[in-house]
Amino acid sequence: MFDGGGTSRREFVKAAVAVGGATALSACTSRLDDREPIPRGTTDSDSLPSRQHAWNDVVRRDDDGNVELPRHQVFLYLTLPGDGPPSDEDRRTVESAFRTLDEAYERSNEGVVYSVAYSPRYFSRFDAPLPEGIDLPEPRSLSSFETPEFDRQDALVHLASDRADAVLEAEQALRGESETANGIEVESTLTDVFDVDSRRTGFVGPGMPAERQDGLKGIPDTNPVPEESPLFMGFKAGFAKTQATEDYVTIGEGPFAGGTTKHVSNVRQRLQDWYVEQDFDDRVSEMFSPVHASEGLVEGVGENLGDDSGVTDEMVDDIRDHAMEFGRVGHAQKAARANRDEEGNVRILRRHVESTDDDTASLHFPTLQRRISDFEEVRAAMNGDDLTDVPTIRQRVNNGILEYIFVKHRGNFLVPPRELRALPTPTGDVPGLDG
Ligand code: HEM
Repeated sequence: MFDGGGTSRREFVKAAVAVGGATALSACTSRLDDREPIPRGTTDSDSLPSRQHAWNDVVRRDDDGNVELPRHQVFLYLTLPGDGPPSDEDRRTVESAFRTLDEAYERSNEGVVYSVAYSPRYFSRFDAPLPEGIDLPEPRSLSSFETPEFDRQDALVHLASDRADAVLEAEQALRGESETANGIEVESTLTDVFDVDSRRTGFVGPGMPAERQDGLKGIPDTNPVPEESPLFMGFKAGFAKTQATEDYVTIGEGPFAGGTTKHVSNVRQRLQDWYVEQDFDDRVSEMFSPVHASEGLVEGVGENLGDDSGVTDEMVDDIRDHAMEFGRVGHAQKAARANRDEEGNVRILRRHVESTDDDTASLHFPTLQRRISDFEEVRAAMNGDDLTDVPTIRQRVNNGILEYIFVKHRGNFLVPPRELRALPTPTGDVPGLDG
């Protein structure tokens, strides 16, 4: 697969992260050996931020100041054997594995950014409960029309880089499948402590969905995804003004201060009707709002919108009137209803990426927020149950993008501050680690 003479470098890298493993990595690195070296990280832990989720200052931004997530991503869902709490020895092993990554890769889009997060089930291994203020329920269904599988593994490691070779090698190092990481010797591996229950992969960026669309389940045969789109649905998302700041989503007090909560859904897309039955204006109406379509606010994938989706207070407040007038409502317009606090701050930070896992057009959809219930409220607004009494609006029809997306997995996690990243107790301790 990787050594066919006519295969372009892009084809190689494209397949490499999705396939994973040592072969993918070596194929990828041998093809990329004329590229810049991957920048090294640091042994000075104090130089790294406490917030594992502080990625915005170390990744690219576009000309409008919107954060551009690293193009290649890997999600490792990990389980601990047995039912009891982990040992001090386990903790030292896990911390050492992460220190190797910190030393091997610059914490940036050109090196590797990553975080580790822990599930409610993980914390239930201990006798003590999580502190009062931590809102981390078990995952649950968040609409009447979904039947997801719940991700209840103990931990989730999320790796991201613009370099496919970096993200693959970092993963290999954590799994004990590479003796070195960017030339640094690997002393401990996560797989000394955890089992890998599930490996999922993602990507995002202009061109990437289009070049992967051919033959994918969920994509019509006409391969309609625009070349310049960063997402399969043909638009750009994550405009700066509709994203919470990292400050806002950070837990402010208690033993996990500096951390955040992470909800990750996995969503399958079926885009036949999206692209074949509908024209561009229909898609704009359902993605943004019908007013966006009638006023021609969106050009192409939406670059022209700058750093804001163009959803106004009026579009949010008058959504019911608009539903009556246009017979449908937009996804962004609906979600925005619950995505501001009383002071107008945005509540959740979306970091979703596309995926071709299982040869299906899908997304891995992490969001960060102070409380998992913040996410649940925004998702409830997106469901638009309250609008289905308008004659043309049904639960999944004319109701944003709900007709085309299907939730397959949901999981909830706590991303502790870096100092507590190795198997923390619910009281925010890491017994066995020095200082
Ligand atoms: C295929 C799946 C999805 C696609 C392609 C998509 C795309 C978009 C786009 C293009 C926007 C407008 C631009 C922006 O403000 O960033 C948007 C806004 C938004 N989406 Fe999605 N979205 C998807 C799924 C979801 C899901 C599952 C949620 C979960 C709650 C969600 C929550 C939001 C929120 C909160 C906003 C911002 C609304 C605001 O506060 O102004 N989206 N999305």
